[in-house]
Amino acid sequence: MGSPHIIERDADRRQVTVLFADVSGFTTFSERLDPEEVRRFQNALFAKLGQAISRYDGFVAKFLGDAVLALFGAPVAHEDDPERALAAALDMMAGSKDLSEQWAARLGQALAFHIAVHTGPVVAGSHSGGAGAAYDVTGDTVNTASRLVGAAAPGTILVSEATHALTRHRFAFEPATTLAIRGKAEPTVVHRLLGALAKPEVARGLAVYGLASPMVGRAAELDQLRAAFDRMQGGRAQAVIVVGEAGTGKSRLIAEFLKRVDADGGLSGTTIRKANCSSLGEPTYGVFAALFREGYHVEPSDSLDVARQKLAAGLRSLGGGAEVADAVIPVLSYLLGMEEVHPRELDPEQLKRQIALAARMLVERRLEQSHLLIIVEDLHWSDAASLELLRDMVEQFAERHLMILVSHRPEARPLLVNWTAQTTIRLAPLSPDETGSLVSGLIGRVDDFAFARVPQFVAKRAEGNPLFVEEILRNLISAGVLVRHGDRWTCTGVLEELSIPPTLHGLLLSRVDGLPAGDRRLLQEAAVLGVAFDEALLNALATAAGSTRAALDRLLAADLIQQVGYGHDSKRYRFTHSLFHEAVYENLLLSRRSELHERAGRALECAAGSNPSRLSDLEALGHHWSLSSDKSKGARYLMAAGDRARAIYANADAIRHYERALRALADGQTTAGQVAAVRERLADMWALTGKRAAALAHYEAARQELETTDDRTGVARLHRKIGGLHWEAGDRDRAKACFATGLEHLGGDHSPVERAQLLQEIGRLAFRSGDNARAVELAERALAEIAREGNSSVEAERAHELAITRAQAYNTLGVALARLGRLSDAVEKIEQSIELAESHDLLPAACRGYTNLGVLYSSLNPSRSIETCRRGLEIAKKVGDLGFQSRLYANLAVAYCALTDRCEAEGVEAAQMAIDLDRRLGLLDHLAVPLIVLGQIHQCHGDHALAYASYEEALSLAEQIGEPQLLFPCYDGLATLSLDAGNTATAEVYLRKAQEVCERAGLEPDAFLILPFLS
Ligand SMILES: Nc1ncnc2c1ncn2[C@@H]1O[C@H](COP(=O)(O)OP(=O)(O)O)[C@@H](O)[C@H]1O
Ligand SMILES: [Mg+2]
Repeated sequence: MGSPHIIERDADRRQVTVLFADVSGFTTFSERLDPEEVRRFQNALFAKLGQAISRYDGFVAKFLGDAVLALFGAPVAHEDDPERALAAALDMMAGSKDLSEQWAARLGQALAFHIAVHTGPVVAGSHSGGAGAAYDVTGDTVNTASRLVGAAAPGTILVSEATHALTRHRFAFEPATTLAIRGKAEPTVVHRLLGALAKPEVARGLAVYGLASPMVGRAAELDQLRAAFDRMQGGRAQAVIVVGEAGTGKSRLIAEFLKRVDADGGLSGTTIRKANCSSLGEPTYGVFAALFREGYHVEPSDSLDVARQKLAAGLRSLGGGAEVADAVIPVLSYLLGMEEVHPRELDPEQLKRQIALAARMLVERRLEQSHLLIIVEDLHWSDAASLELLRDMVEQFAERHLMILVSHRPEARPLLVNWTAQTTIRLAPLSPDETGSLVSGLIGRVDDFAFARVPQFVAKRAEGNPLFVEEILRNLISAGVLVRHGDRWTCTGVLEELSIPPTLHGLLLSRVDGLPAGDRRLLQEAAVLGVAFDEALLNALATAAGSTRAALDRLLAADLIQQVGYGHDSKRYRFTHSLFHEAVYENLLLSRRSELHERAGRALECAAGSNPSRLSDLEALGHHWSLSSDKSKGARYLMAAGDRARAIYANADAIRHYERALRALADGQTTAGQVAAVRERLADMWALTGKRAAALAHYEAARQELETTDDRTGVARLHRKIGGLHWEAGDRDRAKACFATGLEHLGGDHSPVERAQLLQEIGRLAFRSGDNARAVELAERALAEIAREGNSSVEAERAHELAITRAQAYNTLGVALARLGRLSDAVEKIEQSIELAESHDLLPAACRGYTNLGVLYSSLNPSRSIETCRRGLEIAKKVGDLGFQSRLYANLAVAYCALTDRCEAEGVEAAQMAIDLDRRLGLLDHLAVPLIVLGQIHQCHGDHALAYASYEEALSLAEQIGEPQLLFPCYDGLATLSLDAGNTATAEVYLRKAQEVCERAGLEPDAFLILPFLS
C-alpha cells in the first residue's frame, strides 16, 4: 500500500475502520533501556505490525512510539474493511507472541499488545503544504478508537458496536460490556474479540431479524442449470459460469438449483465439492485446497501428518489408490498451503505438473465412483494457480460425468477456455415486479398506511439488486425507522433521510477507489450533476475538460456508467446504480460539493441562460445554486421553477420547488420579503389542495415577515387569504374580521386592486349571509376601484391581478342579482366573468363562474346545467382545486335531480362525492350543501329516514353558519317530511322557522327553491 498517487488525491469523506494497536507498559521498559535498543525494538515492532496491516491491504496512517494507527477503507475501500481490520488485529496478537519470545529477556518483561477497532465516518486525505505531506484521517471516529484503546487491557482487542455489527458473522466475541469513555455522555458498548469463527456465517440475508424470502424469479436461469446438469448426467462434461454483479443472487441461484435437484432425488449418485473464494484473498492453490479439505475432512488446524492419514483413509474407502497417494503426498503440503519444508528437489515447473497430476488423479478416482459436481463461487477472488488447475481439469475430462459450476462478477473475466459444453448465465437485475415481491417476501403483508410507501421506496433504491434490497431494509430496521409489532411493521421516520447502508459502503466505494485519479475525479464531477448527466455539461465543468471523452469511455468500459440516449446536444449517461452514484457523491467533501455545484450552475447558465425555456433547466439551476454557497440565488431559481410548475397546474411539483426554496433560504442570506414570497406561494398551493392548517401557518408567518417591511398591500393580501381559509372552515366572523383588517392596512392610498379584491370578498360574504343589496353595492365598488386603476397597458402580472379581481367581482354581482330576482342580468354578469377568466387563463375564477352558472341553469335548463357543471369540473380537476370540485359535484347533483331519470343513480353519486370531499378536507362551510341535496333526493324517492338524517346533519351545520340559503331548504325539507309522517306540530315549527329565514333575508321562498346554492 501507500502507492504514490495517493498523495495527489483530494481529501474526501468516507467510512473507515480504524485500528489502534499499542504496546502495553512501553514507557516503563523504555525508561530502562538505551535509546538505541528501544529503536531496534521499535523497528521490529513496526515491521511486525506493518506486515499484519499490509496483508489485509490496510494503510498505516501513523507509527507513534509504541503504537500504530491503521486504516481499513482509506485510501482504498474494500467491501469487507471491518473484517480485514479484525483479521489484522488477530494477526498482530499472534505476532506479539513471536516478538515477546525474541524480546522479553532484553525488555525485562513479557510483551503484550492492546488493540481497539472502530468504524465510522472520517475525512481522509493528505495535508498539503510543507515537506512530507502525509495521508491522514480526521474525525471523531479516530478519537473514539484512541479512547477505546486506552481502555483495553493488555492482550485484549476491544471492538466497538459499529464494527461488531459489521463483523459478527465471521468473528467470535465475548458478551458485550459497557465502558465509560472520556468525552462521551453515554456509556459505550464494546465487544472483546475472541477469534475468527471456525464456520463463518453468511453475512447475507435478514435471518437475524427472522426474515427470509422465498426465491423470486430466475426461472429461466434455473432451467439452464438443470439442463446442463442433465447433460452431464448423460455423460457430457459441463462448465457453467454464472456472472453477475455483487449481490445479484449468484450464490442464491446455485443454492436454489441444488435444493431443487435434490428435492427430486437428482443428487443421488453425484458427489458435490464446493469452495468459496474469500474476499481476503486466496493463497496459492487456495481453491483447490478448499476442495480437497472438504473432500477428505481435513481441518485447517490439522497437521500435515493428520492430513496424510485422512487422505489415505479417504482413498482406501474409494477402493485402493496407492498410486494416487504416491502422487499426492509429496505435494500435499504445497496443496494445503502449509508452511512446512517444501520438497526442494522439485523445480517450480515440475511442481506445477506434479500438482496438476495429483489433482487429476484425485478427480479421476472420484469419477470412477460417482458423478462429480464441483462448485467454485466468487472465482474473481481465486488465486491464479487454482484457476489454471481448474482449466487443466476441464480439458482432461470432457467426456466424463463432471460438471464445473463457477460464479464470478463481471469486472473479472477469468473465463474457462476451450470447452464446447460451456454455458454462461448472466444474472440481470430483478424486474421491478420481482423486486416488489422480494420486499414483500421479506417483510410480509403491508397494511399500515405510513408503511405502504416502504416497499416502493426500497425497490426504487435497490434497482433490482436483491442484496441492496436486504441491506436497505437492514439499515432501516437498525436505525429504528422500521419497527416490528408482532407480525406487522410500522414506519416511524423519514425514509429518505437515511443514507447508504454502512454494509454497502465499502462495496460501492471500492469501485471508485480502484480508478486512476483523473477518472475518479471526473466521476465525482459527474456525480454532482446527478445520477444522469449530459456530456456537454460535464465537459463544461470538468477540471480536465480536454480528456473527458476518453475518461468517459473508460468509465463505460468499467461498467460504472451507461449511455442512456441523448441530452440537449450531447450524449447522456447514467450511473449504473443510483446507490453507487450516492456513494460517489457522498465521498466528496462538503466544500468541494458546494464548489462543484456552483460550477455546474454557471455552466448551465452559459448553456441555457438565466431564464431558460425548459422547466427542467430551471429546476437544475435551482438545484445547483441552492447547494452552492449562493443559496439565495438557488432559491430564486427554485421559486421561478415553482411558479412555472404552478402555471401549468403541476401542483405537487410546485409545492416541492417552493419547499426546497424555503430550505435554501433557511441556510442562506436573504433579502426582506424573500422568504415571505415563497411562503405565500407555498400556502396558496396548500390551500388549493386542501391542506388548510399548513396553508394557514405559512400565510401567518409570511404576514408577520411582511409587517416588518412597508409592503402594506402584501399584508392586506395575506389578511384576505387568511380570512378565506377561516371562511372555508366555517368561521365567518373571523373571516370578516380578517377582511376588515386587510382594508385597514391598505389605508386610502394603496393598491386599488387589492382594495377591490377585499371589497369583493366582503361582498361575497354579505351575499352568503343573505344581504344581497350590500353584496351588489360592494361588488360595484370593487369594479369602480378597478376602473380607477384603469386597464390600459399595464405590466403582465398587474393585468392578471386586475382580471382576476374583475372576474370575481362580476361573479359576486351576478349571484346577488340572481338572488334579487334579476335572473337575466345575473346570467349576463356571470357569463362575463367566465369569459374574462378564460381569456386570461384564470382557471380558478372560471371554476367559480361555472359553479354559479350551473345553478342558474338548474331549473330552467337542466341539461345545460349538467353540461356547465361538467365543464367546471374538468377545469377544477385540471387546476387541482378540491374545494371547487366539491361545489361542482353538489351542483351537478342538483342538476341531475331536475332530470328525474338520472336523479337516483347519478344524483346520489355526485352528492356523495361532494360530501366525501368536504368531510375529508374539513370544508364545513360547504358540507351542508351536498347533505341538503342528498336529503332532497332521498325525499323525492320516498326514503324518508335517509332524507331525515341528511337534513338533520345539514341543519346543525347550517345553524352554526347562519346562512339563509342553507337554513331555508333544511327547514323546508324537514317540515314536509314531518307533514308526511303526520307530525303536524313539528311540521309547523319548521315551517315557521323557514318563514323567519325568508323574512330576515327579505326574500320569497321561491328565490331559494329555484336557486339553491350560489357561491
Ligand atoms: N432471486 C432471489 N430471490 C430471493 N432472494 C434472493 C434472490 N437472489 C438473491 N437473493 C438474496 O439476496 C442476497 C444476495 O444474494 P447472493 O446470492 O448472496 O448474491 P451474490 O452471490 O450474487 O453476491 C442473499 O441474501 C440472497 O438470499
Ligand atoms: Mg455470492
